[in-house]
Amino acid sequence: MRLTYTSDVWWKNAVVYCLDVETFKDGNGDGVGDFRGLTQQIDYLAGLGVTCLWLMPFFPTPNRDDGYDITDFYSIDPRLGTLGDFVEFMRTAHDRGMRVIADLVVNHTSDQHPWFKESRKSKSSPLRDWYVWSDKPEPDDPSKVVFPDKEDSLWEWDNRSKQYYLHSFYKHQPDLNVANPEVRDEITRILGFWMELGLSGFRVDAVPFLIENVDPKLPDPHEFLQDMRAFMTRRKGGSILLGEVNVPYEDLVAYFGDGLGDQVTMCFDFISMQRAWLSLARQNAGPLADALRERPEPPKDCQWAMFLRNHDELTLDKLTDEERQEVFDAFGPEKDMQIFGRGLRRRLPTMLGGDLRRVKMAYSLLFSLPGTPVIFYGEEIGMGENLDEEGRLAVRVPMQWTRDGGFSPAEPVREVPEGSFAPERVNVADQKRDTASLLRWFQLLIERYRECPELAWGTYTVLDAGHHAVFAHRCDADGATVVVAHNLCDTAVDAELELAGLEGQQLTDLLVDGTLDVSADAKVKLPLEPHGCRWLRASPPEIAPEDAGVMSQ
Ligand code: GLC
Repeated sequence: MRLTYTSDVWWKNAVVYCLDVETFKDGNGDGVGDFRGLTQQIDYLAGLGVTCLWLMPFFPTPNRDDGYDITDFYSIDPRLGTLGDFVEFMRTAHDRGMRVIADLVVNHTSDQHPWFKESRKSKSSPLRDWYVWSDKPEPDDPSKVVFPDKEDSLWEWDNRSKQYYLHSFYKHQPDLNVANPEVRDEITRILGFWMELGLSGFRVDAVPFLIENVDPKLPDPHEFLQDMRAFMTRRKGGSILLGEVNVPYEDLVAYFGDGLGDQVTMCFDFISMQRAWLSLARQNAGPLADALRERPEPPKDCQWAMFLRNHDELTLDKLTDEERQEVFDAFGPEKDMQIFGRGLRRRLPTMLGGDLRRVKMAYSLLFSLPGTPVIFYGEEIGMGENLDEEGRLAVRVPMQWTRDGGFSPAEPVREVPEGSFAPERVNVADQKRDTASLLRWFQLLIERYRECPELAWGTYTVLDAGHHAVFAHRCDADGATVVVAHNLCDTAVDAELELAGLEGQQLTDLLVDGTLDVSADAKVKLPLEPHGCRWLRASPPEIAPEDAGVMSQ
């Protein structure tokens, strides 16, 4: 396929790396990560093959929801640096060919934001309508309470101004009233401000809550997303919105902008993520295969963002109670590992029992699945969690650079894990020197993923592999084909694939040396080791495999 597409529509096969400046690298020795520290590590990220950094919130905050409670949208949390440091970081990232996006958290502010302080002064405050107030709110639907460990309602009584205010999340995070045109204008200014400073887009926090959680907040909620996107495109073509939209597939397509693709550019695929975990738990490809077969095609130029783990709880909310229990039993049986009754607060390697083969297979699966992979910092070295940290913070531990941590010379903002996932055992420095390490495996996967744009751009077909434990699929684009197979179980398996149209072609293994022949009746036998994975490029025997790929048009 034509590679020039992949620079214009860059997000479609990007490698997105999510990090929190606060926990990545401390540059001034005070125990808190900062922009100076992050900038010093930019070549590490470029070397890994990351093409787009997603920064978690870095704005001034009382930090009661790890920065998702903002008091100033136009500035930097002083603990993390200054606007000057931010601009230097942006310039350095761009110099290394990396784009940067940031969290856009505008469903709510902190209750310490000057807007809310003004709004709650009285019913006649000029900013009263910037938030959602009510004398007598509708009764709560308990299923809409996002953090049931701390909250039991979406409304909080404000004694001073004698009304209730809406808070979809914690009570210290009052919802902004996006029905108010002044609020929408302000949100647009926030987008414009950060784009002027070089951002290529935003990861939009909690999109369904932003536009329609409690009644539709707007007469036409999706018009707001269209307006945001149109504004961004006017200011900077090629800027994107990456939406946190955890809703069933059939409801989700509306967020892309049905058919038109004029709203959220990319949506996280929460459904296949949860089904992938069920597949891993059962060592059975069925649930994941079903999800990908059911998944709607995004509109042209839109894309799915694929992930196995993120900064929140590993939510399993879209599984049935029985299915969720299966995943809990397999990967987080203890109560302390579970959270909100719907998720796990563990990182992937601990869930997979530290089995490196299995961990490598899981990430090979992630990078090969049709979409844009999004990884959470530390996944590339197999970091574990620290369950002593509160709630979701368990997985947001400091990045492990060296055997003694290497995050900060001072007492770190959060405690690193102990035991087999301590920095002594899991760190960047050691893995850089070890060719068999997970870090090196990530580098290989990323390199291959970029060399196989068919995976992200092509038409995918989930294949019947003749064995329940094997997840196999093929991606076709412009006459080129990549075939991938993953063995989810811990015994060796021979998969049998039927590859229509590839009769008599050769499959070249892209991860290890070797080729396989597709028979004249389109069949191929594919041996897979326990938790084995294979990425194969098809080519007629007389053509070099690389010529059947990126060079064909
Ligand atoms: C999103 C974020 C989460 C945050 C919440 C409230 O779900 O991912 O971390 O707590 O929004 O902003």
